[in-house]
Amino acid sequence: MSTVAQQLRGIFAGGSSTLTGLFEAEPDRVSRMTIEESGIRFDFSKTHLPASMIEKLSTLAIEGGFKEKRDALFAGAHVNVTEDRAAEHSAERGQGAPESVARAQQFHSRMRALIDAIEAEALGPIRHILHVGIGGSALGPKLVIDALGRDAGRYETWVVSNVDGAALEEAFAHCDPAATLLVVASKTFTTTETMLNAASVLAWMQEAGVEDPYGQVIALTASPDKAVAWGVDETRVLPFSESVGGRYSLWSSIGFPIALALGWDAFEAMLEGAASMDRHFRYSELGRNAPVLAAFIDLYYTVVRNAQTRAVFAYDERLRLLPSYLQQLEMESNGKSVTASGEPLDVPSAPITWGGVGTDAQHAVFQLLHQGTHLVPVEFIAAIETDHVLDEAHHRQLLVNCFAQGAALMAGKANPDPARAYSGDRPSTTLLLNAVDPATLGALLAFYEHRVFANAVMLGVNPFDQFGVELGKEIARSIDSDGTERFDASTRALIARAFGAGE
Ligand code: F6P
Repeated sequence: MSTVAQQLRGIFAGGSSTLTGLFEAEPDRVSRMTIEESGIRFDFSKTHLPASMIEKLSTLAIEGGFKEKRDALFAGAHVNVTEDRAAEHSAERGQGAPESVARAQQFHSRMRALIDAIEAEALGPIRHILHVGIGGSALGPKLVIDALGRDAGRYETWVVSNVDGAALEEAFAHCDPAATLLVVASKTFTTTETMLNAASVLAWMQEAGVEDPYGQVIALTASPDKAVAWGVDETRVLPFSESVGGRYSLWSSIGFPIALALGWDAFEAMLEGAASMDRHFRYSELGRNAPVLAAFIDLYYTVVRNAQTRAVFAYDERLRLLPSYLQQLEMESNGKSVTASGEPLDVPSAPITWGGVGTDAQHAVFQLLHQGTHLVPVEFIAAIETDHVLDEAHHRQLLVNCFAQGAALMAGKANPDPARAYSGDRPSTTLLLNAVDPATLGALLAFYEHRVFANAVMLGVNPFDQFGVELGKEIARSIDSDGTERFDASTRALIARAFGAGE
């Protein structure tokens, strides 16, 4: 068993108290287990981590070289060892090695100049942004624009990721080809789905009589040569560093549609919010460090209590896309079964991240959370302020429900009828945002990035590669190019049934 797992289990060997027992034993539990940072209240008190163990866990982390690894991340060292690269998303927000920060700033200046040109109608009377990308090249912009762009009224934005033509068809129905900016977002500029979708958008423009469709294309990529070879004018290629991972890339040129749709000031405020969380993660003592505490709790549930899952519920319609964003961030980063040095990982790594929106989810999946047999640490995210125009009763009801769920999960309720009894003692964390604004959202997303990193360091995995996604891509390519003979009978039969017996 890995040393960290052994040590973690050792720390918790005596078993831990119930949640209500912890509150009784620790009168100052709420203040000890709550951190206020960058406009967010992180309440970790309704978890099974005794406040008294934080010091031991911090010592364990420090002895395992946590601080050196964190320094290496910010110094631009090659922490992505399997790909021999740095992981420089923080440099995009001004936190990192000076040369990386300077390079990111140059890329941002280029982005800003292009936005100014588009606003001045240098590319024609653009009203629609059609952003084509997938995974990390889509989820971040989609989340942020959906969360903050509802009233922006600058450009109507569509983010299309799925290669299913139905996705583009829907976007086409809302866009005017002559007034559409095609934004092709792909770090590698080779992703099949994105390249096919981009080609189809160009064809749609051509068919509609747009004289120079390529004149309405912007490329966001770490492979600028490929974008130019594909036909994008060099002046409209917005590069970013190879050292910014796809799922960590919304701060880079990949955030272009965010800056265009919401305005440059909003984009900068988002970067500054994230930078504020970077500084907190980088300089705060481990025991009062929100991403680190969250990771300690994650590790307790996965390694010690064998929880296989963690559920995230946004009690805010503006954050409805947060769970799917986090699924990529957490599962693509830490869903590994070997350590960074290739040793088998003998403890569970990332739990399965899933979730939804409150209060909807209460009427769908919360039955299992309250009475099911799985251990599911739950995370609630809510905001004190809202910006909708409806009666404040709506927001009050929303928050009351959020807080009620956390209380109910913890307290439970006895009943002589087992079907009606609630065991309670079910853990949750609450992240209460002051507001859903660019700075706070930036801080929230940076918190999640650093929590993933903190977990990875403790487990010894590399959170910055994703080789697990390659085999399926390779097989899809070979079905198209080399025929089907080498596949299993089931796969051959499915292909034959779908495409005809001649395949
Ligand atoms: O297939 C997974 C993945 O490589 C993600 O890591 C990435 O965010 C996504 O595909 C898109 O890749 P690209 O930006 O290179 O098109």
